[in-house]
Parts: sequence; C-alpha cells; structure tokens
Amino acid sequence: MLGSMSDKAIPEEILAHYEQEADEDLRLRRGLGELELLRTQEIIRRHLPPGSARILDVGGASGIHAEWLLDDGHSVHLVDPLPRHVEQATQRLGKYDGFSAEVGDARTLNAANRSYDAVLLLGPLYHLTESADRVTAWCEARRVVKGHGVVFGASITRYAPLFDGLTGGALFDSTFRALTEENLSTGQHRNPTRAPGWFTTAYFHHPDELAEEVAGAGLRVVELVGVEGLAAWVPELAERWKDPEGKETILFAARAIESEPSLRGLSAHLMAVATPGHKHGA
Ligand SMILES: C[S@@+](CC[C@H](N)C(=O)[O-])C[C@H]1O[C@@H](n2cnc3c(N)ncnc32)[C@H](O)[C@@H]1O
Repeated sequence: MLGSMSDKAIPEEILAHYEQEADEDLRLRRGLGELELLRTQEIIRRHLPPGSARILDVGGASGIHAEWLLDDGHSVHLVDPLPRHVEQATQRLGKYDGFSAEVGDARTLNAANRSYDAVLLLGPLYHLTESADRVTAWCEARRVVKGHGVVFGASITRYAPLFDGLTGGALFDSTFRALTEENLSTGQHRNPTRAPGWFTTAYFHHPDELAEEVAGAGLRVVELVGVEGLAAWVPELAERWKDPEGKETILFAARAIESEPSLRGLSAHLMAVATPGHKHGA
C-alpha cells in the first residue's frame, strides 16, 4: 500500500494531488516559479561543505533539486513516497553515478546514523499536519546527518494562501475565504472539494514554529530565512523576470529582507538551516 512504510499512511488525497495534478518539475522551471528554485539553490549552496557532499533529498519529488546538486558534483539519494516521482527521477538522473532513489517516508528513513553531509526536507513538512510527525521528520534528519552536517527544512508560511488568494483573486470566493480563515487560525489546510489550484492537505507554519520544531528535534538553527519575499505575490513581475536585469532586481529584493523577522512571513516559503553541531567555542 502506498505510504505504508510508516505507522501512519500518507493521506490518499496528498498522493492523488501529486499523481494527478501537480507537476513539481515544471512548477519551479516556469516564470516566477524559478524564483523559488534560484533562491533555494543559493541558500543551500552557501551552507554545503566544500567538495563533494553526500546529500539525502527527502521529499525530492522528480529530482528538481537533485539534478543541480549532481551537476555541482555532489552525490544524491532521493526519497519520496510516490513511486511515480521515484520513477521520474530515476529515469532522468539514473545516468549520474552519484544518484540513487527509493520510495520512503520522512518519518522512517532507511539511512544509517550519521551517514549524510546534508539532508533536504523540502516538501515533507508541508504535508505532515501533526506537530509530532514534523518533529519526527526533523529527528530522523538529525539521526542520519553527520555531526557537523546540515539539514535544510522548508515550510509554507501561514500567510501564503491569504496573499496568493488576494492577488490571484481566489480570496474573493467565499469557499476559499473560509479555508483561508481556517489556515490563519490553525495553520491547517484542507481542500475537501479538490478544487484545482487550491493545493491539498497541508500545514502552513508561522515563522516562529519552524524554529521551535528544529529545537524540539535537538538541532540548532543556523539561519531562518524567507525564500521569495514579496515578489511571488506580484504576478506582474513575471514579465520583468524574463529580462536578466529584472531578474537580478527581483532576487535583490528577496535577499534584502530574507532575515528580517518582521517580514519572514511575507515569503511563500521559509527555510530553516539547522545542524546538530555546536557553535565554535560553545
Ligand atoms: C511540494 S513537493 C516538493 C518537491 C521538491 N522537494 C521541491 O522542493 O520542489 C512535496 C514533496 O513531498 C513529498 N512528501 C509528502 N509527504 C511526505 C512524507 N511524509 N515523507 C517524504 N516526502 C513526502 C511529496 O511526495 C512531494 O514530492
């Protein structure tokens, strides 16, 4: 059974969303979607150790991040609960010596203790709707990362549906408005009618919560940054993104506020960079 590798199965609607609706590869290669990809790359690259690293990409989908990490000279093992994602990634990336993949769940990794230089959790935390499951995923990442390695965990921010709905128009629909009110008060997102474009069962983090989860797993936050800033909510910027100077300016705007606590919740995604290691001299 799909998702049976943990005590708790992954809800059917999440699997169906990625089987039938979402195209994780296209999402980050198209228009302003590329902003998330470029910002994720720069945040990860500035924390990876020099040389070739062993990276575990948990929730790696069809290998969107695995591909550029392999091109950078690292080896990548990808884990994803969807056999379809694992097949797509293997088909495209099987030509790299350093690539391997398996079906699996962030809560019960097969990897040995302290076996990776870096672990990516870019996606699983969106879909683990219970706090205990998210902390379990962080704990698993901590178990398999080396002592001075680094874990990258992404979340969708609490306010993302509000901004997305306001600028995209869905917020003017009473059903979406009600879902957004629920998102704002509990972080819980459901799409009971499976309306296209309204995502699937998910949890949207308040920025402070991500740091709490990291600490709850015994990891230390190295940095907590907003990924996209305001730009993801301004559809008109898609035109400017096509032009290299426009792209540079939009990236500048995201970088300018990435660590500003009062503005972290403006981004669609937050990235926590964490390590089991202690600060030098600590
Ligand atoms: C939004 S996609 C993100 C894909 C890619 N990592 C990225 O950053 O663009 C979320 C991914 O998390 C995976 N996922 C969902 N629940 C998971 C779990 N419990 N453990 C591991 N991966 C999970 C999904 O199958 C999907 O591939």
